[in-house]
Parts: sequence; C-alpha cells; structure tokens
Amino acid sequence: MKRNKKVIEKYSLEIEKIKENISNIVLSGYEEIDDILKIYFSSSGKMIRPILTLIFSKLGEKNKKYEKEIIDAASLLEIIHATTLIHDDIIDNAKTRRGKETIGKKHGEKTAIFIGDYLFSVVLREISNFSNVNVHKYLSYTLKEICMGEIFQSKDLYNVDTRVLDYFKKIRRKTALLIAYSCILGGIVSNSDKKYLKKIYLFGYYLGMSYQIIDDYLDFMAKEEVLGKQVGQDLLNGNITLPVILKIKKEKNKFLDLKNLDYQEKLKLIKEIKNDQEILNKVKEISNNYLKKAKSQIKIFPMEIKKDLEIIIEKLSNRSY
Ligand code: IPE
Ligand code: IPE
Ligand code: MG
Ligand code: MG
Ligand code: MG
Repeated sequence: MKRNKKVIEKYSLEIEKIKENISNIVLSGYEEIDDILKIYFSSSGKMIRPILTLIFSKLGEKNKKYEKEIIDAASLLEIIHATTLIHDDIIDNAKTRRGKETIGKKHGEKTAIFIGDYLFSVVLREISNFSNVNVHKYLSYTLKEICMGEIFQSKDLYNVDTRVLDYFKKIRRKTALLIAYSCILGGIVSNSDKKYLKKIYLFGYYLGMSYQIIDDYLDFMAKEEVLGKQVGQDLLNGNITLPVILKIKKEKNKFLDLKNLDYQEKLKLIKEIKNDQEILNKVKEISNNYLKKAKSQIKIFPMEIKKDLEIIIEKLSNRSY
C-alpha cells in the first residue's frame, strides 16, 4: 500500500500543475458556465490517464522545451475523459459522479450536453497547438471509437445474447483506446524513440481493457460512498457487462424477460451475481489476464519507467474505487 502511494507522491507536483492548468484552460469567460465548470473540475478522479502520460513522457528527451507540452497534453487527456463522463452520465441516467450530483441532475440534461460540447470545443482549440500530426490523428480516431462504443452499447441494451467477444469490442472502444492514447501521447510529445510506440500502445490497450472490466465489476461490488457513483446501475439500465454475460451463460432462463423485469426483480438478480463467487472470480481472472498482458509489454522500457508501470499495475489490480 505504501508503495502504491508513492506513484502519486512522485508525480504529485506535476499533477497539481495539471489540475491548475485544467482550471485555466476550461474557463469560458461566462460566469454561468464557469461556475459549473469550477465545481465539476474541483473534484478530480484518480487521474490515471494524465499519470500514464507523465510516466511515458519520461521515455523521451529530458528537454525543457517539452515540459509545457507534456503538462498540456496530460491536461487535455483529463479534460477529454471528464467530458466523456458528462455525456456518459446523461446516457446512463447517473445521479452522482465523484461524490457529487451530476451536472445533468443538478442543472438539467440540456445544460450537461452544452457543457460537454463546449469542453470538446476547448479540446479542439488546444489540440491545434500540437504540431505533431499523430497527436491529432490518434485523437480523432479515439474519439470516433468512443462514440461508436457508446452507440453499440446502447443498441445492445437488454440483449441477452451478447457474447464475451461483443463486450470486449465495446470496452476496447469506450475505454481502452483512450487509455492507450494517454500512454502514446506521453511518448509522442516527449519525442521518444519510435521503437517504443507499439509496446506503449499495447500496454495502454491491455491496461484499459482490465480497467473497464474492473469498473464493471465494481458496479456490482463497490461501496457507493467509496466509488463516488451509484452502484448496480449497469444491470438496472440493461447494460450487459461481463458479470452479467457470465451469469446468463449459467442461468439463461432468469434473464429471458430481462427488459420487462421490475426494479425489485432486477435488484434480486444483482444480488445473485454479487453472491456468485464463481462469476466474481472469473471476472477478476479475465481482468488479471489483461494486466498480465500489459505487464509483458514493459520489458523493453528503462528501469525507472518499468518500476512506475509495475506500481500502476499493482494498484489497479487491487482497486476498490
Ligand atoms: C470511469 O473512469 C469511466 C471508465 C472509463 C471506466 P475512471 O474510473 O478513471 O474515473 P475517475 O476519473 O477516476 O473519476
Ligand atoms: C464509461 O463507462 C465509458 C466512457 C468512456 C464514458 P461507464 O458508464 O461504465 O463509466 P462510469 O461507471 O459511469 O464511470
Ligand atoms: Mg456511466
Ligand atoms: Mg456508460
Ligand atoms: Mg461503470
């Protein structure tokens, strides 16, 4: 646990700079919007994406001229992520985020849509400061894939025939690619050796797959006050995540009429999944296999970076929020 803390401590100065940078970048000059943005960005999440950007930026040249670009890149990553969450909370009808009421619930869904769109415009403005064309190319691809992931997920709600492979394809799009991009961006912006890029991408992709699998596990198993968001929402919304797919494989008859089940009946299914140790173990095992794959990519990196990545892997394999 002590060791885990160290990663954050080590990057804490840079993380503080990123938070400050974000507060400046997002301001619009309109009080009504800025008041909402200030509150939203005042409670940060785990900051895993900017931390990954910072770690991989150590692969490149230790050059003063890259310092600002690295902080800007990491800040943008967090803004992109936080923006997808604003829209995601509308789609998922979420009441809380990072321990606070969601923008949609507090100010109405229209406002949440506007705020999200405004933040995407900020990202577009800021990303044009990066001269490397790959920064733009990978980002536009990643954003398109996130949208496709959310669209396919919404088309597949209540689809009890969803296969594990369909699930993997969705989480690759909605989560793993942005985490891979966070890693790649650190390498690109610091002008690291191109020989690393494929490994950086694969590391981020595998880590990201595990990250969403655990997020979906925690939607069943976490404590709401620790998670900072409601639990049980995935199944209540008809979102067929990995624990549900595995339960359907075992006991399909219970799910045949899923769409027409009432709230209490759905809660009963959630409870059954929470009590099914075989399924919980399987989900953990699949997540850990992705983490192992991530770990197998890091051999070629210098020792300092390898150590940081190992700590990140360890931290994520035990996370409870
Ligand atoms: C939540 O992301 C949504 C997913 C893609 C899993 P995080 O778990 O990184 O959320 P914060 O930023 O820490 O709040
Ligand atoms: C987040 O997935 C996917 C995005 C890319 C926005 P979830 O819907 O599971 O994320 P949480 O649980 O609300 O944070
Ligand atoms: Mg959600
Ligand atoms: Mg969602
Ligand atoms: Mg979730």
